[in-house]
Amino acid sequence: MSEARTDLVVVGLGYVGLPLLVRAHEIGMRTAGFDISAEVVAGLGAGRSHVADVPHSAVADMAAAGFRATTDPAVIAEADAVVVCVPTGLTDGAPDLSAVRAAARSVGENLRPGTLVVLESTSYPGTTEDVVRPILEESSGLVAGEDFHLAYSPERIDPGNEVFGVRNTPKVVAGVTPLCAKHGVAFYGRFIDTLVVSRGTREAEMAKLLENTYRYVSIALVNEVALFCDRTGIDVWDVLHCAGTKPFGYAPFQPGPGVGGHCIPVDPVYLETAGVSAGFDFRTLSAAREVNERMPHHVVDRAERLLQDAGIAVEGARVLLLGASYKPDIADTRETPALPVASGLLKSGAEVVYHDPNVPEFAVGERGLRRVEHVEDGLREADLAILLQDHACYDPVRLVASRCLLLDTRGKLAGENISHL
Ligand SMILES: NC(=O)c1ccc[n+]([C@@H]2O[C@H](COP(=O)([O-])OP(=O)(O)OC[C@H]3O[C@@H](n4cnc5c(N)ncnc54)[C@H](O)[C@@H]3O)[C@@H](O)[C@H]2O)c1
Repeated sequence: MSEARTDLVVVGLGYVGLPLLVRAHEIGMRTAGFDISAEVVAGLGAGRSHVADVPHSAVADMAAAGFRATTDPAVIAEADAVVVCVPTGLTDGAPDLSAVRAAARSVGENLRPGTLVVLESTSYPGTTEDVVRPILEESSGLVAGEDFHLAYSPERIDPGNEVFGVRNTPKVVAGVTPLCAKHGVAFYGRFIDTLVVSRGTREAEMAKLLENTYRYVSIALVNEVALFCDRTGIDVWDVLHCAGTKPFGYAPFQPGPGVGGHCIPVDPVYLETAGVSAGFDFRTLSAAREVNERMPHHVVDRAERLLQDAGIAVEGARVLLLGASYKPDIADTRETPALPVASGLLKSGAEVVYHDPNVPEFAVGERGLRRVEHVEDGLREADLAILLQDHACYDPVRLVASRCLLLDTRGKLAGENISHL
């Protein structure tokens, strides 16, 4: 065994991996990180955080305590625990586990007996046992549950959430054997307040997919209610306000221009794919997807109708998008509904500009959109503005006072110049 041991090596230093390292460092763990991105590693090496919830000072503090990020997987050999937090996105609309497979190979090739290996990436049931385990065993020559410990623990981080972070969000942990689960619990129990041990890795993988699919399907329901209310002249925001006062049996969700981010629109596809493999048809999921994917088109339709009603030709009209990220007050634009909305408006010949304090550049394909620096200037020049994200900087009073024709997809504004989703 190597002389210099590291308590934790995180593989994949992004939105999930970096906050985990920061929390482990807070309780005095010796930490290191492996990432295939030279840019990510160089940034962290220079004391810079590329994750909005992690301040630069936290990276600098870790570095002062000996943390190092590297593109050399040999660092894994020093670890007592290795946690894999690599992306599990979609390629051509289908689950893509290539990063998980590559990371498992890097871990396996550097694995020492006695190490705890945990997968945190979201994926379908069976990923830990049937995908990760064989790669680890084959590339290391070691056996899970005998020579090393293998666990799955889905990440629940909610970027931008100031109440729930790594420490106080209960964490589900599962082992491929009861002893592996014990090692997982001993590791996370050092820096997470509440742990929930699931029966096996498949249950933990499925629980994560259920959590995010629950959001996806619930959002689809309120989106469809919003479409119905638009058709029938019912004020959907008042409906939601009234329903939301029920103190039991109802969890409020908001309609919007579409579902974005790396998880909520992606994870149901993993579940659907697992269904297909098992010969099972998840009908709720396909219906929810159809509704959610219709929303950006509905916003474009509404915008075009508003312009036409105001006597403005869509072709050549200047439309200002307020908010390009997929949720309020973050910089992340992955799967953002702003993209299909902008794309639809451009196709109709509108000139599309955007404002977002956190998103310095935004493009539809090769076409970069002009960024408006000050909201007031943008509103003055626009024929129509569309509130896509409810960023804290968007003061309702000032937006309404601008007199600009405004389509509010978030139910935040009221005034003569305001139309709602
Ligand atoms: N972002 C969230 O809010 C969130 C919440 C819960 C769960 N998750 C899940 O956590 C996982 C990671 O998501 P993320 O948002 O942190 O992704 P991310 O893209 O922010 O970061 C992933 C990092 O992994 C690196 N990487 C890719 N392939 C690698 C490899 N083979 N070896 C080493 N490093 C590699 C990338 O360079 C990147 O820096 C995903 O499965 C995601 O679904 C994300």
